[in-house]
Amino acid sequence: MNPGRIQRRRLIAAMVAAGFSPWQRLLAENELLPVTPSDAEGPFYPVDTPTDSDNDLMRVIGKNDVSPGRVAHVHGTVVDRHGIPIDGARVEIWQCDHGGVYHHPGDGGDPDLRFQGFGAMATNRAGAYHFRTLRPVPYTGRTPHIHYRVIAPGFDRLTTQLYVAEEAERNARDFLYNRHTPEERSLLTAAFRGVDGDSVAAEFNIVLG
Ligand SMILES: [Fe+2]
Repeated sequence: MNPGRIQRRRLIAAMVAAGFSPWQRLLAENELLPVTPSDAEGPFYPVDTPTDSDNDLMRVIGKNDVSPGRVAHVHGTVVDRHGIPIDGARVEIWQCDHGGVYHHPGDGGDPDLRFQGFGAMATNRAGAYHFRTLRPVPYTGRTPHIHYRVIAPGFDRLTTQLYVAEEAERNARDFLYNRHTPEERSLLTAAFRGVDGDSVAAEFNIVLG
């Protein structure tokens, strides 16, 4: 077996161990992974990058109180279409607070300033990212979702939204969710499973093209 094939086998084994099972067959067959579908940016991307824009959205630096609401650990790996992890990709997320209000003047509401609203981080050498944030809630006209923007040199910028598998009824009524094909929906929907206490965790792996 040539060195390239051995390396690929090792990569597949590592990815399967890391929970990449849905991609196993495609990788094993040398097919390219499907690029993560894009979705609408929406009107509430921050006007200015907040001073505190780290990957813990439940706590704002300088405030004693943490955000009310259910904690969600959202994590995953950013890879290229060959399944190779992308080091140093910038992953940004933004979402409304527990009351359904965005930190954006255009939303017109009164956002909970204990919630950060926006966070960003760079992937590590294994392509991994993670955020501690709010389990997304519905707001008028939308099913719960988390907005994503992912930027890496040499790849198309991705703007998309992550949906909650446990919200099947609301998802089925959502105008943006319904614009996607069933395959695209499956790529943009993650299970938010209970981990400890009231917290949930979701894995959202991202493929850039
Ligand atoms: Fe939104």
